[in-house]
Amino acid sequence: MIRGGNPLRGEIRISGAKNASLPVLCAALLTRETLSIKNMPQLNDVTTMLALLEQMGVTVNYGTGNAVELSAAELTHLAVRYDMVKTMRASILVLGPLLARAGEASISLPGGCAIGLRPIDQHIKGLEAMGAEISIKHGYIHAVAKKLHGARIVMDIVTVTGTENLMMAATLAQGTTVIENAAREPEIIDLANCLTAMGAKIQGAGSDVITIEGVSALHGAMHTVMPDRIETGTFLAAACATGGDIFLKETDPCLLDAVLDKLTEAGAKIKTGDNWIHLKMNTKPRAINLRTAPYPAFPTDMQAQFMSLNCIANGTAVITETIFENRLMHVQELKRMNADIKVEGHTAIIRGIDQLDGAHVMATDLRASASLIIAGLVAEGVTIIDRIYHLDRGYEAIEEKLSILGARIKRTFEVSPDPTQFQ
Ligand code: EPU
Repeated sequence: MIRGGNPLRGEIRISGAKNASLPVLCAALLTRETLSIKNMPQLNDVTTMLALLEQMGVTVNYGTGNAVELSAAELTHLAVRYDMVKTMRASILVLGPLLARAGEASISLPGGCAIGLRPIDQHIKGLEAMGAEISIKHGYIHAVAKKLHGARIVMDIVTVTGTENLMMAATLAQGTTVIENAAREPEIIDLANCLTAMGAKIQGAGSDVITIEGVSALHGAMHTVMPDRIETGTFLAAACATGGDIFLKETDPCLLDAVLDKLTEAGAKIKTGDNWIHLKMNTKPRAINLRTAPYPAFPTDMQAQFMSLNCIANGTAVITETIFENRLMHVQELKRMNADIKVEGHTAIIRGIDQLDGAHVMATDLRASASLIIAGLVAEGVTIIDRIYHLDRGYEAIEEKLSILGARIKRTFEVSPDPTQFQ
């Protein structure tokens, strides 16, 4: 439950990145030695990935703070069941490492999901080019490869986890692999840094051509997960929408140029340092047009949050989603809060209004949940958001962080909470 009306003010720390943590955890499968990871966020997706790795025989030890140690000395189980993949599509990230290390993997085929079809044909195409034999039976991908070999792989489309899967597989392949049209997201660089610390030979991560020279074995290492650029952007968008003044520490402004540009265009005053961002918003936001695209362009994972910002901005904005075919589900919910949005295909036209109305709404996916929180923070009255388990997948301690910043927000387990009881 959120009672809107308070501008966000104050200072919080940004957590480690969900989308960097998940591939880094899978990298532990590539070595018999221990991988120590720091700044691992406490998120349901991380818990799910750790449970999945434990099922495979990986030993997990929790250190102090957000540290975790993984040891895959022996792999006892080379399969991932449907219930895991259904809960978290990123489970597919074990495919490349398992094949490279154990020569075999069996993983339930992910179906479509709330935001789109999300096929994995590019992961399969790349692994086949590296010599894997892959068959699909009874809803499972079965992959075998005595020894993967290097290959030149031209990705048909830019895929983040596809690039990560192939990069991990290639570290232990015989010979050199070149991935062309690779994803350039910062999370790819973070994974490459972790793999390099483990002894991998990788060049070009962060560009669209990545070259990996296979080595015979990887060793243990220590890695610190990069800050979450989407969590950072979400708090900044929330502060911008509420007319706030926030200081985010332990983040990295270089990770979100496109988002900072758009916030500045909306009227925010932004200052940055090596690992901090200060945003101050003195006016009502201006409407901002945007189009999502692979990094370094505007991220699809920030589209929903900017939709909420535009709902109460001066003017009319056009938002086009180009990455996922069904990522405008939050529009229906925002309209229940009186937002003026029209959808044509993958484009939403948002006419800013003075104020949203608090209402009972439903979260449909992770970033849609974040957009409803922002809408709730600026709305008049109380907003109740259902199905917030989506939120717990990807935002660490979000209600605590928002409370520190002065938001009136509380988690309730009641089936029919009474908004009048929340002051
Ligand atoms: N695609 C294919 N074939 C493939 C792989 C992808 O057609 O083999 C398509 C997808 O259907 C989509 C597009 O390519 O239309 C891009 O998908 P991508 O593979 O890049 O997405 P992903 O790797 O599954 C990661 C993040 C997402 C983020 C996207 C795009 C992780 C664990 N997930 O997903 O994060 O939206 O990249 O940047 O890294 C989120 O955090 O809320 C989230 C959904």
